[in-house]
Amino acid sequence: MQYRFGVTQKAISAFVLLFILILPSIVLAGHGEPAAAKKGILLVAFGSSMDEAQVSFDNLDAAVKKTFPDVPVRWSFSSAIIRNVLAEKGRNVDSPATALSKMMDDGFTHVAVQSLHTIPGEEYFGILDTAKRFEGMPKGMSKITVGNPLLYSDADMVRTAKAIAANIPKDRKAKDAVVLMGHGTHHGANIYYPASQYYFSNIDPKIFVGTVEGSPTLDDVKKKLAKSKAKKVYLMPYMSVAGDHARNDMAGDEADSWVSELTKAGYKCVPVLKGSAEFPQVVDIWVDHLKVAFKHLDS
Ligand code: CO
Repeated sequence: MQYRFGVTQKAISAFVLLFILILPSIVLAGHGEPAAAKKGILLVAFGSSMDEAQVSFDNLDAAVKKTFPDVPVRWSFSSAIIRNVLAEKGRNVDSPATALSKMMDDGFTHVAVQSLHTIPGEEYFGILDTAKRFEGMPKGMSKITVGNPLLYSDADMVRTAKAIAANIPKDRKAKDAVVLMGHGTHHGANIYYPASQYYFSNIDPKIFVGTVEGSPTLDDVKKKLAKSKAKKVYLMPYMSVAGDHARNDMAGDEADSWVSELTKAGYKCVPVLKGSAEFPQVVDIWVDHLKVAFKHLDS
């Protein structure tokens, strides 16, 4: 009897101790503090005004949801111009800041933001800055991490070059050239385009990288094409989507499109209207960058 009473006493003390230990968390919960971590993913693309670009975003969305089946995934576009064009058509897409504030209000405590841009340029640094300002806001997210864009490390460059080369149309012969149209930027990260040329040249001497708004220019590409002795040129966007630049600046009917210019210069042109996010091997690179960012939510 004495022995049994001792056990009961111990059980009561243990219960009281447990209650004292969990009391503070009950009180905090009563003041509206989040009881447990709520993790989410925010994808950030530049955006596109063209419906044809949606296939790229759908591909990325499906790959991310397959990799993180239990994590809510939200979208945003970093380009205000694109968001405004879409809004006029009745489609509202959030900016990264709006998307993050909605996630904050919805109780997310940990958010991995993934840049779906190609280079770490102005758009990417804008996301880093925005994320930093949201982290640690009162009653907001305690941790926000940002995943690298497609091209960041040397390994990304090697992998991306291989992934894109693997998706050149199969009827292209080794003597035919392939011209990749990158976006280009005034930002210092434009260096990723001439750098890409090095990595593509290592695997295929007739792949040439140009840009719409930076360097290398179309004139730079023309010089390389002349030296290559190629007669036929496959043109592909070096962008996640085959949107406005691919359909107009690259493959459009205007006299100054790349297809028109190269046709005038005597090349037989084959435009390929597929963005790099339509290629599964390229999508895998973005998803791998997100895996790293998601893992860092816990460290
Ligand atoms: Co543009």
